[in-house]
Amino acid sequence: MLAGLGGWLPPRIVDNDELSRHLDTSDEWIRTRTGIGQRHVVDPGMSTVDMAVEAGRRALHSAGSRDVDALVLATATPDQICPASAPQVASRLGLGNIAAFDVNAVCSGFVYALATAAGLISAGAACSVLMVGADAFTTLLNPKDRGTVPIFGDGAGAVVLRAGEPDELGAMGPFDLHSDGDLAELLIVPAGGAKQKTSDNPEDHYFSMQGPAVFRHATARMAESSRTVMERAGWTVSDVDRFIGHQANIRILHATAKQLGLPADSLVVNIERTGNTSAASIPLAMVDAVNDGTLQAGDRVLVSAFGAGLTWGATALRWPDITPG
Ligand code: COA
Repeated sequence: MLAGLGGWLPPRIVDNDELSRHLDTSDEWIRTRTGIGQRHVVDPGMSTVDMAVEAGRRALHSAGSRDVDALVLATATPDQICPASAPQVASRLGLGNIAAFDVNAVCSGFVYALATAAGLISAGAACSVLMVGADAFTTLLNPKDRGTVPIFGDGAGAVVLRAGEPDELGAMGPFDLHSDGDLAELLIVPAGGAKQKTSDNPEDHYFSMQGPAVFRHATARMAESSRTVMERAGWTVSDVDRFIGHQANIRILHATAKQLGLPADSLVVNIERTGNTSAASIPLAMVDAVNDGTLQAGDRVLVSAFGAGLTWGATALRWPDITPG
């Protein structure tokens, strides 16, 4: 069950007007096409581990206990390609020699890592897990690419999961997870990995995205996965109080809600102030929604994400009585 929640955003804010001074774009275009007004960006030297530590600390404070047996970090931007970043986060948080590893499902990372954390608990491998979604996605972007720079921001969000009863508030599941590697090229950093360590073309080291195709897949897959979870949970559309989708683009969220037949006011949206923070976006949206009273104990919450890979998935929960740390 969900027992703690926290989020952290780097202090530097870059608004659309600042971006428009360096890129051929405008505040009007970015707001209309994406719903984004600003994003938080890491300064040089600040890393994914730094952000994950801050969000993790807040989630542990929210849970009222630092007693966790495992740390799962969802990230596509680890501090180094090898090793994973989760052990460094655990050490920096003073959590001792607990199990710690990364899950890379890019923007679906939160839902994938949540299922992984819940699985560790069901398997008896842990009683309590700190799960952090953190990405310094702006470090992957070509500063000259107006197709990606306006969309992404940096940040971290975290939850604590504990063993509990299926009918308790905060109980997680069912989960629905999927992938389609045939479409990996739609969102990819071509070079830097084992297949092509370096490339003569500097652009190959940056994240490239086929925006309109991604838009169509994101909407269809998030809706499809949400339907599966509702069916498995025995919910109808009218049972859903809040839909928390990955904050990729406000038009994707509205189109997904429309496909599902969910009213627009059930959507939790904070993309205006954060942009797309990849694995951090859902927990950061949860923090904002609890703080502004949108999300309340007992609410039936549908969660869905989509990302590079391709990957996508969904889950459901009854919202617990927690205060973000
Ligand atoms: N500023 C101004 N104009 C821009 C622009 C920008 N930042 N980016 C693209 N344009 C222009 C294009 O050149 C094109 O101009 P044209 O009609 O003269 O050729 C026009 O705007 C429309 O471009 P298009 O790419 O079709 O726009 P879109 O409505 O699909 O919006 C995205 C582009 C990227 C915002 C949208 O496709 C999207 O959000 N896709 C999903 C991305 C995503 O969520 N990725 C993460 C998944 S986890």
